[in-house]
Amino acid sequence: MLEIEDLSVSIGGKQILKDVNLRIGPGETHALFGPNGTGKTTLLNAIAGIPRYAVDSGKIIFKGMDITQMPMDERAKLGIGMAFQRPPAIRGLRLKDLIKIINPQADAAAILKKMDFDAFGEREVNRGFSGGEVKRSEMVQLLAQQPDLVMLDEPDSGVDLENIKLIGGAINQLTQKDIRPSSRTKSGIIITHFGHILEYMKTDRAHVMVGGSIVCSGNPSEILEQIKKSGYEGCVACLCPA
Ligand SMILES: Nc1ncnc2c1ncn2[C@@H]1O[C@H](COP(=O)(O)OP(=O)(O)OP(=O)(O)O)[C@@H](O)[C@H]1O
Ligand SMILES: [Mg+2]
Repeated sequence: MLEIEDLSVSIGGKQILKDVNLRIGPGETHALFGPNGTGKTTLLNAIAGIPRYAVDSGKIIFKGMDITQMPMDERAKLGIGMAFQRPPAIRGLRLKDLIKIINPQADAAAILKKMDFDAFGEREVNRGFSGGEVKRSEMVQLLAQQPDLVMLDEPDSGVDLENIKLIGGAINQLTQKDIRPSSRTKSGIIITHFGHILEYMKTDRAHVMVGGSIVCSGNPSEILEQIKKSGYEGCVACLCPA
């Protein structure tokens, strides 16, 4: 589904990502861990194709196609979807109208209900939404899009204990965890700091990013346990010694 080869990315002339390699197969969901400011959001934004993230070298391959230079809207049409860490509010656009723009066939009422978000359909997208409401608004948009690769940038931050189950359930549905592994075609990548969300959704593999590079990969619960015990650097030294 996704192949990242030796990707280096800079923002405003400052290098953030250094030689990142990552492969996510169809039906797989990966977790991405790492300290603040290490480049996790930068990686997802570069995959999404946000123009200010300049690819200095390396390649992004999606479904066998080189999309490194492809405009963002074309990537979205090809099946890349993203829940942003801090999405903007969109003045003058109601959430239910955005659902129709994303996918004219989408059942907006059913999607809003699923995320316990009925009351927000008439409101302008993310305008005045609380931190946790913004996260549900992002999930509503992904449920309308049904992307083949769903990228989730801290979908759990600021979300209360009940809504976190709702969000975990939506992620499992988006990544087809309700059907048997050999039939799954959709893939996911989630950035999270706390791992609580991982109790409600299934991940196959985890990666640790430090200083703009992926320095360790392995079993999600093992990696998370080790990070809790000895911190990011300690986890890498223990599980992935140089
Ligand atoms: N326009 C910019 N100019 C300079 N540096 C920037 C710019 N935008 C982002 N950065 C820096 O890039 C680095 C990586 O940021 P990024 O948002 O990818 O981190 P992150 O790993 O997602 O962190 P967090 O866990 O806090 O969300 C940070 O140090 C950030 O300050
Ligand atoms: Mg981030």
